[in-house]
Amino acid sequence: MGAKGGRAFEGLEKAALVAGAGLLLGACSGPQSALDPAGREAAEVARLFWVMLAGAAIIWLAVIGTAVFAGRFQKTPLGERAGLRIVLWAGAIIPTLILAALLTFGLRLMPVLRAGEPALTVHVSGEQYWWRVTYRTAQGEVETANELRLPAGRPAEILLDSADVIHSFWIPALAGKLDMIPGRTNRLVLNPERTGTYRGVCAEFCGRAHAFMAFSVEVMEPAAFEAWLARERAPAAATADSGAFLANGCGGCHSVRGTPATGTIGPDLTHVAARPTLGAGLLANTPANRRRFVSETEKLKPGVRMPAFGALEPDQLDAIDAYLGSLR
Ligand code: CUA
Repeated sequence: MGAKGGRAFEGLEKAALVAGAGLLLGACSGPQSALDPAGREAAEVARLFWVMLAGAAIIWLAVIGTAVFAGRFQKTPLGERAGLRIVLWAGAIIPTLILAALLTFGLRLMPVLRAGEPALTVHVSGEQYWWRVTYRTAQGEVETANELRLPAGRPAEILLDSADVIHSFWIPALAGKLDMIPGRTNRLVLNPERTGTYRGVCAEFCGRAHAFMAFSVEVMEPAAFEAWLARERAPAAATADSGAFLANGCGGCHSVRGTPATGTIGPDLTHVAARPTLGAGLLANTPANRRRFVSETEKLKPGVRMPAFGALEPDQLDAIDAYLGSLR
């Protein structure tokens, strides 16, 4: 490569470095970042990450330093004893000490990550490809879907299982991930500390729509949370006509509490209009997106179990959308 080509390459390299650094730093914050913790467990995971990173950086610097020293400054071969000493210290003793320190630090965090007397119990079941969320309260169960709301400052026990295949429950801003296994209940205790909206995802390949299996997490002030839970508990208060929804069989798979729709295969839709997203984190919950999701389900979310209702007359689709939009 000529001098000019070399300079152009250097320019490109610099641009790539700047872009890469920007992307990396950008990934440090946001609603789905393990490095921007909003809960105690995630804060411990982030601390573990930074300490491990520092340990790895020390080892890396020592290795590179030794290589540079050997290449640049050590022009004559070392004697056998000096060589052995380097292998012993740099190859065995120092790495053992650093790795043992990191292991001890990591193990020490484990009890912290399992502790906590829960103020709230939520059962979350993985389904292909959405989340069945059931609040277990003294006044009975409250079912919702694809949305988790938690009070800030109160430990919440999340009981995880699966209806079909193995999924993995992960809210990077709140805690590490935990598998959801059919026939087994895994327990996760979350201590959300900062109010805000975060994003949870499925972190285990579970089928074609695995990448479209997300949910929203809202950490709220306790009073606002209690008010929300009371609203969720109430039966549907639809202001639009349910005729088209029921006539087209939607109630065979979906429940709308307080109505003849009592299906349990798909997500409960009692208060669907109050949820931020549709299709498990796939689309913003707007009228246009509701019509699209009902008529092009498989196209938007390949592998989904719900059939597309693309053959419906526009007025039927409008009526279904109006009904869903009134389910607050
Ligand atoms: Cu569920 Cu991946």
